[in-house]
Order: sequence, then structure tokens, then C-alpha cells
Amino acid sequence: MKFSTIFVALIPLVLASFTKALDNGLALTPQMGWNTWNSYGCNINENIILDAAKAIKAEGLDKFGYNYVVIDDCWQADQRDPETKVIPADPKKFPRGLKAVVDEINALGLKAGIYSSAGTMTCGHHIGSLDYEEIDAKAWAEDGFEYLKYDNCFNEGREGTSQLSRDRYFAMTNALNKTGQPMIYSLCQWGMDAVENWAPTIGNSWRISGDIYPSFNRYDDRCPCEDMQNCKLPGFHCSVAKILEFAAPLGQKAYPGAWNDLDMLEVGNKGMTRDEQIVHFTMWSMVKSPLIMGNVVTAMTNQTRAILTNKHVIDISQDVASSPAIRLWKRKVEDSGGDGNVQLWKSSLSNGTYAVAVINFSNKEQKVKVSFEDVFLDEYLSEGDHGDRAWDAYDLWQGVDFETYSAETRELQPLEGGPFKEELPELTIRPHALKVFKMAPEGTKGLGTSPEELERRSLEEKRLVMMGRAKEWQEKREERRRDTKGL
Ligand SMILES: *[C@@H]1O[C@H](CO)[C@@H](O)[C@H](O)[C@H]1NC(C)=O
Ligand SMILES: *[C@@H]1O[C@H](CO)[C@@H](O)[C@H](O)[C@H]1NC(C)=O
Ligand SMILES: *[C@@H]1O[C@H](CO)[C@@H](O)[C@H](O)[C@H]1NC(C)=O
Ligand SMILES: *[C@@H]1O[C@H](CO)[C@@H](O)[C@H](O)[C@H]1NC(C)=O
Repeated sequence: MKFSTIFVALIPLVLASFTKALDNGLALTPQMGWNTWNSYGCNINENIILDAAKAIKAEGLDKFGYNYVVIDDCWQADQRDPETKVIPADPKKFPRGLKAVVDEINALGLKAGIYSSAGTMTCGHHIGSLDYEEIDAKAWAEDGFEYLKYDNCFNEGREGTSQLSRDRYFAMTNALNKTGQPMIYSLCQWGMDAVENWAPTIGNSWRISGDIYPSFNRYDDRCPCEDMQNCKLPGFHCSVAKILEFAAPLGQKAYPGAWNDLDMLEVGNKGMTRDEQIVHFTMWSMVKSPLIMGNVVTAMTNQTRAILTNKHVIDISQDVASSPAIRLWKRKVEDSGGDGNVQLWKSSLSNGTYAVAVINFSNKEQKVKVSFEDVFLDEYLSEGDHGDRAWDAYDLWQGVDFETYSAETRELQPLEGGPFKEELPELTIRPHALKVFKMAPEGTKGLGTSPEELERRSLEEKRLVMMGRAKEWQEKREERRRDTKGL
């Protein structure tokens, strides 16, 4: 028995957690909450925001982790205060100012977030924070905000190299720190200038692409880049499939306190089927993107509730020991005129368990075999025998009732025919749908084995070895004694 191999598999994450992140102690798991933009754009005011906060509370969404209420663009008045230079809130939208709104959000047990741009104007053509970082950060801290989403519009050309972009965003890191108020710092720099190389030490999350739109995989010229490494125009109207494609290689850059941001959720908005929304939500959890709802939370359908509160999927996102999922393969499949493919992804979870997702990006049903040789390639390379072991598998969407929502957590049932060796049973996956399984070593009821238990077993193993050696030594000594006597 080689319990040590389980530790080997966890090493990348353990090492990563010693890497220095932005030292504000926040977002140790990906942040969760709600943001105004996807549903309301610029049409916001204090009632919309407070009604949403109350709905989050009434629906119990905060219990699932959704606890930041973020005010996106278009909250600003037209001019800075001539004396203090602070950006006042638009008096028509926020007649009582921002602090009154933050206080009410806090009174509900939720936290408040705000938005600005590292430019002279925001994307909605309001006043930006470039070169006013300290004044603005101080004003937000005084209002009680605990989260900043910081956009990239109208940056006056101070981009194009990592240094230029980093300097601009680092000015806000310092300004936020100087306020003394811990605030999640969410960079919205659209994945340019190799943001994943410099953002992890200055922010809690960084956008990796242009803006999402509620489409599963439709191409749109406004999101023109095919790869983000050399992208000069990230744009907007990027589909779920496209953003996931950008995210595939980037998991290696994330760690506790520093996450790739695939943009806000479109679950519950017009434009995607139920299956497509499930792929979107599951994969954002698997790659450990922040989970920021973007729907009208005051008018949720049972289906939307059921998707956003699948505890077993949220557990993947919020598992303190889990690392962002990696894509193990992507295979082209027959498609009617499309760019159809099927993908296999895996995330390592705590206690030596795993989440494995198979996505059908084609517009035809697909039959897929998942071999453990593929799933456990990394473990095999580091001497693990995971591929030869027997695994229980739990389908994380099985039994979800989308019609009559119930907030009670479903007990997961192990997939029939298990435990499985060598491969999972052949999966049939509808077009634009996914299957996701938690995999746990046979007989562990889906929980795996905790590090404490592994430590105990490893000590026990060492003790047995030592006892074996002691016995051997004693026997040898007896033998020598007999030999000596015999002489
Ligand atoms: C400011 O930075 C210091 C050093 O990195 C850190 O210890 C401290 O927690 C930070 N404070 C805030 C409010 O983020
Ligand atoms: C994807 O779904 C289509 C249609 O449901 C199906 O024909 C196809 O076999 C599926 N592909 C995979 C690889 O599962
Ligand atoms: C939503 O679920 C509730 C039960 O939780 C049920 O009473 C209600 O009829 C459902 N709504 C719809 C539109 O089916
Ligand atoms: C890890 O194992 C412990 C005890 O065996 C259990 O209580 C815990 O829920 C497990 N964690 C996960 C994420 O399964």
C-alpha cells in the first residue's frame, strides 16, 4: 500500500499555498456573490440593489456562499467633488448616497462591492479612477465596501506590456491596502499583457477574457481573439465554450487568494438551454472561477435556483484543498457542420477524491468512454497507482428536480455497477451537455480519506516496518550469540 502517493498528488497545491499572494487574507476559495451588470447594465439604482440583496437573503443564497453584492458601472455622478475630489454617487440613482445602501446590505449579513476602471473613464463613460486611486479607495473604504471590480476601459494607452498594465493595477493594490480595510480586489483587465503572470501577487482574481454573453458556443466578431496569449482586442460577446477554451491552460496560475476569473454567471438569463447552463455553472466551479451571479435574483425560476444551489457542485469550487481543473483531452467528433468536440476535465479534491467532467460540445449525442489511465495520468507519472484502484462514482446532477425546487441537499447515490476499475461505464451525453462525477476510493462513502487518517495509517505503517526491523535485528543478534557460543 502506498499512501504516500496521495500526498504526491497534492504536492503542487501544497507548494502553491506557500507562494505569496496578495496579503489581504481574502478569497482563499473563489469569491461568490451577485453583480448588477449582466441583468441591469447601466439601469441601476438603490432599490434594484437592495431588492436583490433582500432576495439573496430570502432565498438563502448566502448560505450557499453567495455573500457579496457588487454594484457595477454607472453608479457615478457626472463630476468629482470640487473640494475632496471624491466621485459622488449619482443623486438620482442613490439619493441617500452609497453608504446608506452599504449599511443596509451589511444589516442583512451580506457584504458590498463597488466598480471602477483603471482609466480616465469607465466602460460606461463615467469617471474612472486612473491617477485618483488613493482618493477613490479611501472613499469606498469609508462607505464600507469590501470588494472592488476594477475595469480596463480608457486606459490612455498605458497598456501593451506587462509592466505598463501591472503598474496601473498595482497603484490600486497599494491604495486599497493603505485604507486598512480588507477588500477583495477583482481585476477586470480582460486577459491582456500576460495578466496571469503578474496579477496573482497584486489582486485576488483576474479576468482572462473579454466579457461573457449568454451563448453556449456561438461565434461573435466582437470577441475576435482565438487565443489570449497574443490578444489585442478581447472585446465582448464571448461564449461559454470560448472562455472555457481560454481557461484550459491557465489553472496552473491560480492558488488560494488568486483566481482566474471567467466572468460573471449567465445562469438564469435568456440565451442558453438548461443543459448549457449546467455546463457553464459546473465548469466555472471546476476551474475555480469566482461564482458571481448575474441574473434577476428577485424573479428566479425553480430551474435557476436548482442550478445555482447545487451544493455538490459548489463544494468543488469551495473545497479548500482543491486545485483548478485540468483538461485531460479534447477530441473532435462528427458534428453537422459544426466544430464539435468532447472534452474530459478533472479536479483534485480533498481527502484524495476527484471531480471528473465530460462535456459534449457537439450538436449530436455522444457516447464516451472515460478510462482511468487518462484520468490519473499525472498520478501515474508520480508513482501513484490510482489507475489500478477501484472507485465509486457519484453523478452530481442526478436527482436534481428542476421543476419543484427544494433547497435540501440531495444525498448522492453511487453510480450503479460500481465500484469501477479501469474505466467508467459508457456515458451517453446529450448535445451541449455534461456529466460530472465525484470519484472517491471504493468504500469511503464518497468522502475519501482525510489527511489525519492518512497520517495515522502512514505512521502505523512506519511503526510496523520499524518493529519488523527490530525483530530482524534481534534475531540476527541471537544468531550471532549462538554462533559465538558454538565456537
Ligand atoms: C496590506 O499589506 C500588508 C503587507 O502585504 C498586509 O500584511 C496587510 O494585511 C494588508 N492590509 C490590507 C488591509 O489589505
Ligand atoms: C454528443 O451529443 C451528440 C448528440 O446528443 C451525440 O450524438 C454524440 O455521440 C455525443 N458525443 C459524445 C462524445 O458524447
Ligand atoms: C416551484 O417549486 C415549488 C415547490 O418548491 C412549487 O410550489 C412551484 O409550483 C414551482 N413553480 C413552478 C412554476 O413550477
Ligand atoms: C474528508 O474526510 C472527512 C473525514 O473522513 C470528512 O468529514 C470530510 O467531509 C471529507 N471531506 C470531503 C471534501 O469529502
